Amino acid sequence: MRNYNNNNNKNNNNNNNNNNNIVALLLLLFFNSTIEQQQEVLSRFRAERAALLQLRSSLGLRSKEWPIKSNHCVNWVGIICQNGTVVNINISGFKRTRIGSENPRFSVDSLANLTNLVSFNASRFTLPGSIPDVLGFQVQKLQVLDLRFCQITGAIPFSVGNLTDLVELYLSDNALTGTVPDSLGRLSRLSVLDLSRNTLTGFIPSSFGSLVNLSSLDMSLNYLSGDVPESFRRLLNLRFLNLSGNSLSSSLPAQLGNISNLIVLDLGYNSFTGTLPVEFGNLTSLQTLVVKNNMLTGNLSGDMFSSLNKLETLVLNHNNFTGNLPDELRSLPALSFFDASNNNFTGLLPNLVPNGNFTNFTSGALNLSHNMFYGNLTPVLRRFRSVDLSYNYLQGKEPDYARGVFSLNRNCLRNMTTQRNVQECATFYASKGLTFDNFGVPEDTLPPPRDSHNRNKKWIILAAVIGGVGLFVLIAVIAILVIVCCRKSRTSSQRGNGVGPAPAVIVPPSPMAALDLSNLGDSFTYQQILAATGDFTDVNLVKHGHSGDIFRGVLEGGVTVIIKRCDVGSGAKDVHVAELDLFRKVSHPRLVPLLGHCLENENGKFLVYKYMPNGDLSSSLYRKNDLDDDGLQSLDWITRLKIALGAAEALSYLHHECTPPLVHRYVKYIFLF
Ligand SMILES: *[C@@H]1O[C@H](CO)[C@@H](O)[C@H](O)[C@H]1NC(C)=O
Ligand SMILES: *[C@@H]1O[C@H](CO)[C@@H](O)[C@H](O)[C@H]1NC(C)=O
Ligand SMILES: *[C@@H]1O[C@H](CO)[C@@H](O)[C@H](O)[C@H]1NC(C)=O
Ligand SMILES: *[C@@H]1O[C@H](CO)[C@@H](O)[C@H](O)[C@H]1NC(C)=O
Ligand SMILES: *[C@@H]1O[C@H](CO)[C@@H](O)[C@H](O)[C@H]1NC(C)=O
Ligand SMILES: *[C@@H]1O[C@H](CO)[C@@H](O)[C@H](O)[C@H]1NC(C)=O
Ligand SMILES: *[C@@H]1O[C@H](CO)[C@@H](O)[C@H](O)[C@H]1NC(C)=O
Ligand SMILES: *[C@@H]1O[C@H](CO)[C@@H](O)[C@H](O)[C@H]1NC(C)=O
Ligand SMILES: *[C@@H]1O[C@H](CO)[C@@H](O)[C@H](O)[C@H]1NC(C)=O
Ligand SMILES: *[C@@H]1O[C@H](CO)[C@@H](O)[C@H](O)[C@H]1NC(C)=O
Repeated sequence: MRNYNNNNNKNNNNNNNNNNNIVALLLLLFFNSTIEQQQEVLSRFRAERAALLQLRSSLGLRSKEWPIKSNHCVNWVGIICQNGTVVNINISGFKRTRIGSENPRFSVDSLANLTNLVSFNASRFTLPGSIPDVLGFQVQKLQVLDLRFCQITGAIPFSVGNLTDLVELYLSDNALTGTVPDSLGRLSRLSVLDLSRNTLTGFIPSSFGSLVNLSSLDMSLNYLSGDVPESFRRLLNLRFLNLSGNSLSSSLPAQLGNISNLIVLDLGYNSFTGTLPVEFGNLTSLQTLVVKNNMLTGNLSGDMFSSLNKLETLVLNHNNFTGNLPDELRSLPALSFFDASNNNFTGLLPNLVPNGNFTNFTSGALNLSHNMFYGNLTPVLRRFRSVDLSYNYLQGKEPDYARGVFSLNRNCLRNMTTQRNVQECATFYASKGLTFDNFGVPEDTLPPPRDSHNRNKKWIILAAVIGGVGLFVLIAVIAILVIVCCRKSRTSSQRGNGVGPAPAVIVPPSPMAALDLSNLGDSFTYQQILAATGDFTDVNLVKHGHSGDIFRGVLEGGVTVIIKRCDVGSGAKDVHVAELDLFRKVSHPRLVPLLGHCLENENGKFLVYKYMPNGDLSSSLYRKNDLDDDGLQSLDWITRLKIALGAAEALSYLHHECTPPLVHRYVKYIFLF
């Protein structure tokens, strides 16, 4: 009937026509009624008009919207009547009169006389004060109550639980305090409940499990604590659940897995712990899952994702998730927004392209930044328009499709600025037992020489040959360890001349007491070692070896050395003892010379070797020709042949001439003299 409003002329004339309008309206209603019914309708009409006028004055509404002399059912903005009785009031966005805004109050007592009112919308109309009990006790037919952005204070009165016809209740964006009353659980017809962005405290009432018709529940941005009640498993009609921005703790509510209609689930910004429950895998309608900024841990279960094939948005950032991203993520055909940043995920980049389907990948966003992903960039990333992979350990080249589009800061990528430094990258890859491509530059186990004068090619060849010899010497040296290990009792009297293998060999332990340190170089103090390596700064770290870290150091006299910090008490026990023992037994001028040792410190044993400025053999073998002329060139085939011959010679020595014979076992570092 408010449709009559459409006629502007009527509006202009409404003062004159007011009574005529009422008569016309009532005539319609009276057509089929008795005199008594007509009397009743008329008196109700007048009572409601009086009630509305009282509301107008208690709230300070303007006559612009509610003109005093016209028919409220016909001409008042925001009033909807049925059969001559008010059913809807919408004062949303109204302004108050000047007097009304001087002392605004939440004063709506007269609503009690609007006995057929089903909807009251006062959103964005300031109602400072608490929700009056009159609403709960006397506006019994209310189905929709919208009080968003009304500056309401105080607690939600228990009496709101008496509005058992309520279908939609919006109280968000106010300053409501106190706990959420249990009584809300009585609103069994409720479909939408929005209590978000208030300052509510306490627990979520378990009575909410009775809100079986609830389809949308938003309690985000409050101070709710405790857990999500078990009874939530009964909310089978729930489609939207937002509990983000509270202080909810405990593990994630696995019972939600029961709600197969759930489309949006936001549990972010809480204090949830534990893993993503596999029960979430039953949420087959789920499109949005947000659990960011919690304290979640563990690996993602692939099973969980295999049936979430409607999932579009997956937000896991700022947790403590670990492990690989499961392969099943690629079975999420609709996934267009995926944020797993700021976790401890690792592994190669996941394949997120649904099987065989490469089309239409021009939208969406992928954020895997601040994790520990490694390996190369993959073409599957093209699925997303925005890709942030910064703060990982990705290596290799930046592909064309990524150029200028992806965020790739702080990785281990080649030819790019703002990447991690070589130490960080090498350390990470070593800790994972992986090979780092060293930014595409052949890896020098030992740093290249600082002086870059032109080198005589013969010298290079000689170096390579000797290096080759060293290779096989080393192979053999390591091999002997196996034998030494097996024949420990029979070899105790062997002696050597104090020259030994390169660092980072795996050797079996032998008792310290049996070790004769004479002929094994100088004894250094721990202080000297610290001073030489600058307290083991990362800058001096050459490599993480399997049995200890290898540092470059400068002794007091200015001599550059290599210092190996042998792991103590780790898997390979007493590496230094075994290694020193070995140096006593094996003698060959082409082994890396051992200069000394430092055994005085409980927590670290150190071996000091001569510094080999040309790096190791494998670097030279794989060195590319396009490097600057000053460095070593890739080796030609004559050189390589000589290396092989020299190495064979050395091998022969190890197998047949030295006692006991050494057998090849393991090679890691070979150095060029
Ligand atoms: C509301 O109705 C009560 C009786 O039910 C009456 O006493 C009161 O005056 C009415 N108020 C208004 C504003 O009409
Ligand atoms: C209006 O009248 C119709 C028919 O008499 C009835 O079905 C309906 O419930 C009435 N509406 C209200 C709000 O009283
Ligand atoms: C409520 O009233 C406002 C302002 O008159 C209007 O913009 C809005 O469309 C109304 N809302 C409804 C649901 O009728
Ligand atoms: C209340 O009015 C506002 C403004 O017009 C509108 O956006 C909102 O949807 C209305 N509330 C309900 C429950 O219809
Ligand atoms: C409100 O609900 C409670 C519990 O159902 C009931 O005892 C009480 O009488 C109701 N109050 C009113 C005014 O309807
Ligand atoms: C729940 O909602 C459906 C439709 O949305 C309605 O038919 C049913 O009556 C409601 N149940 C209750 C208890 O309100
Ligand atoms: C949940 O609520 C918060 C705060 O009210 C809001 O920022 C967020 O977008 C909501 N989540 C979803 C999925 O709508
Ligand atoms: C990742 O794990 C390391 C230890 O392994 C820990 O120090 C770090 O805080 C973790 N980072 C995150 C974001 O959980
Ligand atoms: C990715 O996530 C990080 C941290 O969560 C954030 O700082 C960054 O802005 C995000 N990147 C994009 C492109 O949104
Ligand atoms: C493919 O892209 C078009 C427009 O770019 C979009 O309308 C459509 O929804 C997309 N289809 C899928 C399956 O994402």
